[in-house]
Amino acid sequence: MVAGCGGDTPSVLDPRSDDARRVEGMWWVLFWISCAVVAVVTGFLLAAARRRRAELHVDDQIDRRPVSWGDRFVVIAGAAVPGGILAGTFAFSLVVLNDMGSGDRNLEIEVEGHTWWWEVRYPNGAVTANEIRIPVGETVELALPTADVIHSFWVPELQVKKDHIPGADNRLSVVADHAGRFRGQCAEFCGLQHAHMEIMVEALPADEFDDWLQREAQPAPEPDGADAADGRRIFERASCAGCHTIRGTSAEGTLGPDLTHLANRETLGAGVVPFTPGALDDFITNPQDAKPGVSMPPTELTPDQVDAVVAYLTELE
Ligand code: CUA
Repeated sequence: MVAGCGGDTPSVLDPRSDDARRVEGMWWVLFWISCAVVAVVTGFLLAAARRRRAELHVDDQIDRRPVSWGDRFVVIAGAAVPGGILAGTFAFSLVVLNDMGSGDRNLEIEVEGHTWWWEVRYPNGAVTANEIRIPVGETVELALPTADVIHSFWVPELQVKKDHIPGADNRLSVVADHAGRFRGQCAEFCGLQHAHMEIMVEALPADEFDDWLQREAQPAPEPDGADAADGRRIFERASCAGCHTIRGTSAEGTLGPDLTHLANRETLGAGVVPFTPGALDDFITNPQDAKPGVSMPPTELTPDQVDAVVAYLTELE
C-alpha cells in the first residue's frame, strides 16, 4: 500500500486528462457505495452477535419463535437491495464510459503488441518502441493491434484499460491536458514478461512534439568514427539485421523493435533497464538474462564485435 502511494506510481486517483477524471469520479462513487455496504453488513453482523450473546445468558426469557418478517427480510436485503446496487452501479459506469473518448482525433498512432514489447508507429513513418510521445491537449487515437499476444494497454493517469486482441480493431483516444510523463503497464497476464511490459507516454508541447516527430522519421544518422562504422557493418552482416530495422541501412528485419533512433529511448526491453551502453552490451550479449523469455537469441558476436555494435547503436539519435 505504501509503494502504491509513491510519487512515481501511476494511479487512477491522480488523473491527468478529462477521461481519467471521469474514471476517478466513478472510482470514488463505487468506493463510498462499498463503504456503505460494508458498514450496513457489519452492523447486522454485530446485531446478530449481540442477540446470540443475549440468548446464551438469559435463555428462558428469549422468544424463540421465528420472526414473521424473516423471509421478506432475506429477499429484500439479501437479493433486491444488492441487485439494485449492482444494476445501478453498472448503469452508472455505462453512462460514464459512454461519455469518454469523444472528440475528433488530430493524430492516429498505432501501438502494436508483441511478445513482449510495444511497437509504436506514426503516420509519417516514424517507428519507435515502448515510448509514445503525444502532443499536449490534442486528441490522439491509439490503434491497438497485436502481432502475437494479448496485452492490456493501461496508462492509468490518462485513460481506461483496453486490450490488444488478435483480429480486433481496438482503439483508445487519449488527451493529456498538460505536458508530462505518464507511466503505463500491461494489465493482463501475457506470459513470462508480463511484469516487464512498461509503456511510457510523454506529452510534449506542440512545437517540441513536431520537431521530435520529424527527427524520428528521418533515416538513421551515418556512423561517426571507425568503431561505429565497424559496428554498422557488423550489424548489417550478422543476424541482428534479420530481426531489426535501422532505416537508411540494409537492416530491414521486422521481428524485433526498429532501432533507427534507439539512442533516444530511455529504457531497453520495455522498461527492464535504463538505456546505457553497459546495459545495451549486456542485453546483446545475453538477452535472456536481461529479459527472460524474449525472442532475441544470445549473440554469436565476439566481445569486440559487440563493443563496436554498441558504439554504433548508442550514436543512433
Ligand atoms: Cu502484456 Cu501482460
